Amino acid sequence: MLTIDKLSEVIDFGREESKKILSKPYIEYFHQRERILPKKADFTPSSTFPNQFYQGDNLIVMKKLLEEGYRGKIDLIYIDPPFFTKAKYKSKIFLYPHKGEDVIEHFAYDDTWEEGFSSYLKMLSTRLFLMRELLSERGTIYVHLDYRTVHYVKIIMDQIFGGENFLNEIIWAYKSGGVSKRYYSRKHDTILVYTKGADYIFNPQKEKSYNRGFKPYRFKGVKEYKDELGWYTLVYLKDVWQIDMVGRTSKERVGYDTQKPEKLLERIILTSSNEDSLVADFFAGSGTTGVVAEKLNRRWIMADIGKQSTLTTVKRLIENSSNPFYIYKADVRDEKAGKLYLKMIEVKKDKGKIFLKIELDRYEVDLNKISLKAKDRELIHRIWKENSLSLLDFIGIDTDYKGNSPDLRWQYYRKNKENLDSSIYIEVDQLKEGQEIFIRYIDVFGKDNSVVYKIEGDKAIING
Ligand SMILES: C[S@@+](CC[C@H](N)C(=O)[O-])C[C@H]1O[C@@H](n2cnc3c(N)ncnc32)[C@H](O)[C@@H]1O
Repeated sequence: MLTIDKLSEVIDFGREESKKILSKPYIEYFHQRERILPKKADFTPSSTFPNQFYQGDNLIVMKKLLEEGYRGKIDLIYIDPPFFTKAKYKSKIFLYPHKGEDVIEHFAYDDTWEEGFSSYLKMLSTRLFLMRELLSERGTIYVHLDYRTVHYVKIIMDQIFGGENFLNEIIWAYKSGGVSKRYYSRKHDTILVYTKGADYIFNPQKEKSYNRGFKPYRFKGVKEYKDELGWYTLVYLKDVWQIDMVGRTSKERVGYDTQKPEKLLERIILTSSNEDSLVADFFAGSGTTGVVAEKLNRRWIMADIGKQSTLTTVKRLIENSSNPFYIYKADVRDEKAGKLYLKMIEVKKDKGKIFLKIELDRYEVDLNKISLKAKDRELIHRIWKENSLSLLDFIGIDTDYKGNSPDLRWQYYRKNKENLDSSIYIEVDQLKEGQEIFIRYIDVFGKDNSVVYKIEGDKAIING
């Protein structure tokens, strides 16, 4: 598929390209910065490295991080890049009230590579060079691949990270997926593990190993346990991991095509980072790495080029009551984004308490500008006509907006199979004359827009 001389060309390209990127000054690309505060309690940032998600090409993200003091600061990088599958991936959008057919699949990311395999490898190797710069001296990188690319990437990794730093080849085995009568059914992915150097973080984890016949051995000095299956001992993790994929009925499932199981990330994060370590995933997808890092008290940085990835990840983090995190995006007005109209936005006072009352009216969007399959277009149009607000997926509000970077303390998003509530009632400490209200809204296609209101008397009017 690729000759050996082409492979060395790929590595040289990556080296040169990464050098070029490092030598140029960084010009700010992520002008839009918003902080999401899922926990209602007040928050004072305790760390110099806040949790952050970037919507954009990870090349620019890594350049920015290197420029801003993150060189050698990340203890663990996990990446699950496209696998050169030549497929386009989707994210499922459910439309409520859900009537069986009311689910559409919307583009999430492209893995087609018109310029062939070497362009894919060049993309990856340039990024791997930059990841090495970000990795701490005690750091480890996990690169998640499959049979299509792993053997080529192994050679590239040997050149970038050094063969002596190759720690493991992990086989993640699962049962799901297709079968074949023409070849052995493909039931595993491969994760290459490299450390930055010899002194790396490694907290060995244990797993259950069932006794033969599930009966007790009663060996001297060996602790045995019993569960519903039978007797087992605890052994250090081996390099073959049997973990179920995120199945159709799994509670974890968020509808993002290539979502990886939390259990997989849990092992990786527990083994190769400590509490408070900085963990990064530059191909975040549905945000599994950050969600698990958060649960295990690590700090995280994630990046993904896709809008559906941002939307999915943000909602997942909020659902998990995560610590506050920043979302960075390029500040380009999306021509395809719709416009939210309010019926009213008012200040209400009741028994000494102050409330901001918002009534949503409608969401106007030009559906001709959204790329949709013909059959979905009709459905979406009908649903939009019935209730245009059902195409809204997320609303974030800062009730005391100071300009620049809003703090979205209030978040509303579609959940429990219901659309957003069209009445929003927020209790606030104060609403002064001239105080600004920032409203961020994102539709089911991931298109976002915002509007700022200003308090005038007991009403608020659009600012500007
Ligand atoms: C296999 S998925 C990751 C799935 C993820 N591990 C999860 O659990 O959901 C790969 C992701 O890489 C993203 N991606 C591809 N090229 C990228 C780039 N240059 N910069 C940032 N993200 C990229 C895609 O949008 C896609 O979401």
